[in-house]
Amino acid sequence: MSGGDNLDFEIRPNPAPVTAAERDALLVNPGFGRVFTDHMVTVRYADGKGWYDARVEARAPISIDPASAVLHYAQEIFEGLKAYKMADGGVAMFRPDANAARFAQSAQRMAMPQLSQAAFLQSLREIIRIDQDWIPQNDEGSLYLRPFAYASEVFLGVRPALEYLYLVIASPVGAYFSGGVKPVSVWVTPDFTRAAPGGTGAAKCGGNYAAGLSAQAEAIENGCDQVVYLDAVERKYVDELGGMNVFFVQADGNLLTPPLTGTILPGITRDSVIKLAERAGRRVEERPVSIDEWREGAASGQIREAFACGTAAVITPIGTVKSPEGSFTVADGGSGSVTMAIRKELVDIQRGRAADPFGWVHRVL
Ligand code: PLP
Ligand code: COI
Repeated sequence: MSGGDNLDFEIRPNPAPVTAAERDALLVNPGFGRVFTDHMVTVRYADGKGWYDARVEARAPISIDPASAVLHYAQEIFEGLKAYKMADGGVAMFRPDANAARFAQSAQRMAMPQLSQAAFLQSLREIIRIDQDWIPQNDEGSLYLRPFAYASEVFLGVRPALEYLYLVIASPVGAYFSGGVKPVSVWVTPDFTRAAPGGTGAAKCGGNYAAGLSAQAEAIENGCDQVVYLDAVERKYVDELGGMNVFFVQADGNLLTPPLTGTILPGITRDSVIKLAERAGRRVEERPVSIDEWREGAASGQIREAFACGTAAVITPIGTVKSPEGSFTVADGGSGSVTMAIRKELVDIQRGRAADPFGWVHRVL
């Protein structure tokens, strides 16, 4: 199930875009995921026909039949990546080829047709080009791109749908956590797990997030910013956070992170952190880390920093860890120096302020 190696996008500019003055006002403090650009990409798929009707058009509500398969069985996948204003005034995306590959893997897991990498990348370039004035210029800001696809077939039988809609929307964003780059607190949920072996943990499908909302609500009730999931089998090992991967900095400066065994999302930021750390001469161990190891390591100093990473969160220090058994802080609960150094290296590459030895930066403009 593939197709659409290259698509011909029909461009239909929004006849009534937001005025420049309104847009500038919206860009002052956009928050995360609240403000949207003037356009969207839509591409349709039908079994036997492949991907067709690729368009860039005015962002608008889409009509959806009440019997569309996605509304009943949640056959939906998405991606998240950012475009940045570069130091030289140009615009670039960060590792969009990795998002294309993960989108294809998610599609495969959810029995959906794959969009070619070429078509995926082109859809992103098209929306960036037409909505380039929506990219925030400030240092924390970027244009968050949200490609997604869902089963649009009107049918209530339980089987992979025969029709799909792929879309891209774009949202100018600031920091994901309202406190900016301050350390966050996390809640180790005793009640919920995110993904079991053989499940959909490694796919970026909407269902994973729906299933995590109760756990996230529990985190908020306990005064925390994010939830930490333990593995579903032993309820012992740290998997990841609700929307981020997790790293630990050990006393010797080396890193530790849970392995990709199919139950966590293979984060692109996670992969970038591993490569940056190794380039800086740090060893990165990918192995199970139990919550007891984290607690005891924080107490003894063996684990001296912890951080969350993801496209939305970038790299965010974890200060306090709470669970029904009690709370502990990682070191003094502040932002660790290794965490902040890796963050700076990553952000400097993303924004064109540092060399790009890994070829991660894809110029668009
Ligand atoms: N884990 C989950 C559950 C996520 O939603 C995300 C965000 O995309 C990540 C990890 C980090 O992935 P990435 O670095 O590719 O954004
Ligand atoms: C992302 O980082 O792109 C995500 O999808 C995470 C989500 C919590 C916004």
